[in-house]
Amino acid sequence: MSSSSKKSIAAPKSMTASNAPAARGKAAPTKSPARPARDSVFESRLARHHDELRWLYMELYDNGDMFAELIDRMRRFSDGRSEALRKLDIVREQEGAWYRSQDMLGMQMYIDNFAGTIKGVEDKLSYLERCHVNYIHLMPFLDTPSDKSRSDGGYAVKDFRRVQPGLGTMDELAHLASACHERGMSLCMDFVMNHTSEEHEWARRARAGEGEYMSRYFFESNQEVIDQYSRDVPQVFPTTAPGHWTYLPELGQCVMTQFYPYQWDLNYRNPRVFNEMMYNFLYLANQGIDIMRLDAVPYIWKQLGTNCRNLPQVHTLVRMMRMIGEVVCPGVALLGEVVMAPVEVVPYFGTVEKPECHMLYNVTTMATTWHTVATEDTRLLRQQLDAVCTLPKEYTFLNYLRCHDDIGWGLDYQTLRGWGQEEVPHKRYLNDYFLGNIPGSPSRGALYNADPVTGDARFCATTASMCGIEAAGFEGNAEAMEVAVRKDLMLHAYMFTQSGLPIIYSGDEVGQVNDYAYRDDPEKADDSRYIHRGQFSWELVANIEQAGTVQSQIFAGLDELERIRREDPVFGSEAAWYPKDYSDPAVLWIVRECGEETLHAVFNFSGASKTIWMPERARYRNLISGEQAELETFELPAWGFAWYERQ
Ligand code: GLC
Repeated sequence: MSSSSKKSIAAPKSMTASNAPAARGKAAPTKSPARPARDSVFESRLARHHDELRWLYMELYDNGDMFAELIDRMRRFSDGRSEALRKLDIVREQEGAWYRSQDMLGMQMYIDNFAGTIKGVEDKLSYLERCHVNYIHLMPFLDTPSDKSRSDGGYAVKDFRRVQPGLGTMDELAHLASACHERGMSLCMDFVMNHTSEEHEWARRARAGEGEYMSRYFFESNQEVIDQYSRDVPQVFPTTAPGHWTYLPELGQCVMTQFYPYQWDLNYRNPRVFNEMMYNFLYLANQGIDIMRLDAVPYIWKQLGTNCRNLPQVHTLVRMMRMIGEVVCPGVALLGEVVMAPVEVVPYFGTVEKPECHMLYNVTTMATTWHTVATEDTRLLRQQLDAVCTLPKEYTFLNYLRCHDDIGWGLDYQTLRGWGQEEVPHKRYLNDYFLGNIPGSPSRGALYNADPVTGDARFCATTASMCGIEAAGFEGNAEAMEVAVRKDLMLHAYMFTQSGLPIIYSGDEVGQVNDYAYRDDPEKADDSRYIHRGQFSWELVANIEQAGTVQSQIFAGLDELERIRREDPVFGSEAAWYPKDYSDPAVLWIVRECGEETLHAVFNFSGASKTIWMPERARYRNLISGEQAELETFELPAWGFAWYERQ
């Protein structure tokens, strides 16, 4: 790891005991002249946001007592924040958008698959450093039902303040967070705010008929209301969990469950729910979490007669959460999981003056990328990148090829229709292509939630399997393997060329393929997302030292791309970038410009080699080989790429 990227995010040396915020103590009354220095930090942050926060809270809840309680608890969470985290808050406040720094590289992983336990992850930090990873997203680790068929991979939370006993303890999590901070790394976790597990204490008490707890969920016995929701609200899991309501015989009522029947939707119309969930958020922030991933955030407000997604109240809630974070733990960033159409995604950034999420997943770009792989036609991707690159630079996207979820084919069908491609047949083509059913497709994987009514289906597999590494390995086809590895590296290079924060899915750094073991596990067999949630293979890591192996080629290839990306100013977050028109629709061309430097990043999204014409005959430097040459044209092999800088 270069010295530039090994930047510790601990407090600056200049902050001594005398100018550091004072030791913790009981919160002083607002007007006390002897108020400790650090409370004044909280009070001045609060003063900045108080009026807007109160206005929004009262608009939604009209409940002054609950607002006063919220402020009081915020003050207490601020008092409870460790000195190290308070210092980090100050550093990050001064730095601004710390998560946008050029050397940021993320990796997303399951604790048990990667290293068994939280302590195990801490023991593997050197490996992650070797991968140049400085942002670790730990997949859900909070307490969840031990029956895996009722935990949704941990997204059914039983207790927001307890770690799954098999993974470790909250103290071990806090220890890991501080070990990360010492190495200049940050930690991301999921904040599952739309629902709780049916085994959460609130749900258990609601099921027992306690009104106070029933009011934290949506109970309904009126069949007309139930039917209307079912008519107006699209299904999240049409095959694996159809319907929006789950009947509870002991109560003779239904409870709203938009996701799985064991995930009960929380009722944010009740200010008690909002307040308590904010206390959980602040509690977790105080363990040292740096990035909170707001799971399924578009769903958190329901309104009869609407589709219950992206309602204006959702934005009010997220804006309030942003302000609460900025007052108590300004070093913590909010990452919105908004898997929606592009017009619905961008509003979750809020505005530059009144921001909501710090970061959002670049979900449409991800899905459009795989569409491009299957069609060898970059036109839709160019249009999508055009839309993204014209957004304000403050809007930070998280770029990724694969994550723990399926790929839903959320594409711009209006445009595709104009080109003669209808939604349902096109989705069928994409799924067939990635299943490997189309001649010439080297991909392997599984369908997810195939809906026989709408003809819709989503897709699951690892990056490596979608690129053909699994098929080539199985067939022992060296030539096909060479192309598959090239495609895998080309897609990563393309991801690194975009502005934003790139995230690698654990295992992708060594080209790990699909794991079919889930099919033999009755608790997982119904959820094909487990195909890409296999045990991380440390045996593959052992191969990275052996020249010529697939693992060494991918690992070394990524290593080089990452080094260039974090060192060359043309990859900085302030650089301008845009897709450039090119006559061949199979070729994607991205230009990045910073000061005098211009990068031409050219990607061949096709199985045929291409002769590429530069915009002008000039001297260019190949960033990968380091060679400089006078060029007018150059050759790109099938699925190859080039990074050329104008000299
Ligand atoms: C998010 C998660 C997904 C989970 C769902 C319900 O979309 O990414 O894995 O099933 O939320 O919590």
